[in-house]
Amino acid sequence: MTTNDIPPMLGWDDVYIVTTRDGSDTLYSRSHNATYHSLFGAVGESKHVFIQHGLKTLADRPSISILEFGFGTGLNAFLAYLFAITSEKQIQYTGIEAYPIDAEIAQKLNYPQYLAFPEEQDIFLRMHLEVSFISDSFHFTKLPGYTHVPADEEFDCIFFDAFAPGAQPELWEQSVFDQLYKLTSEGGCLVTYCAQGEARRRMEKAGYKVERIPGPPGKREMLRAVRA
Ligand SMILES: C[S@@+](CC[C@H](N)C(=O)[O-])C[C@H]1O[C@@H](n2cnc3c(N)ncnc32)[C@H](O)[C@@H]1O
Repeated sequence: MTTNDIPPMLGWDDVYIVTTRDGSDTLYSRSHNATYHSLFGAVGESKHVFIQHGLKTLADRPSISILEFGFGTGLNAFLAYLFAITSEKQIQYTGIEAYPIDAEIAQKLNYPQYLAFPEEQDIFLRMHLEVSFISDSFHFTKLPGYTHVPADEEFDCIFFDAFAPGAQPELWEQSVFDQLYKLTSEGGCLVTYCAQGEARRRMEKAGYKVERIPGPPGKREMLRAVRA
């Protein structure tokens, strides 16, 4: 990545912290007029959608590669890291983020304390400060856009966590799912909190076999798309 590729940081004029119903923090984006997580519970949603129905469905593999579309607060990445250190799995995590938040904001988010891993605060902050690092069995990389992912890379699990189709329709277009399908390994999956019919049809058109599964608190359903 060249210096010109490093996107500008979002500051307090762009986002502010909101406490969700389970006591964990999220951010509200003024420009997208949307929160980064469900107001019913940020940690509850992330654990249910991305960890339980994404990462843990592949837990029989010794090594799991994850691509996250929308790194945001880093909560999903941090949960994946905690999974790696507590399960002794190898995780290669690549996060895509076009508008990273300032580290000062990341420092105020309550995830390490809320998840009872205050000693991992440094790793949580490194995810915001650094573009790439290795810690124990966790390999971390951050990229500014999905077109920066090398075409020959494959991922076992894609955390599709863009803002909702109403807020950012361009990220839910057919071409995006076609590209993500090519980046999914055989037997790998894409998971998202969104259960919208049009999004599901586009995933199916890309080649995925898609199932609707019960969603986190406040959401009836979510989607899990598998590359058979
Ligand atoms: C719903 S939030 C992600 C929440 C995140 N997974 C977390 O755990 O905090 C959506 C994210 O997508 C990012 N985003 C918006 N447009 C993008 C784009 N074109 N490419 C990559 N990321 C984008 C936003 O900046 C925001 O961080």
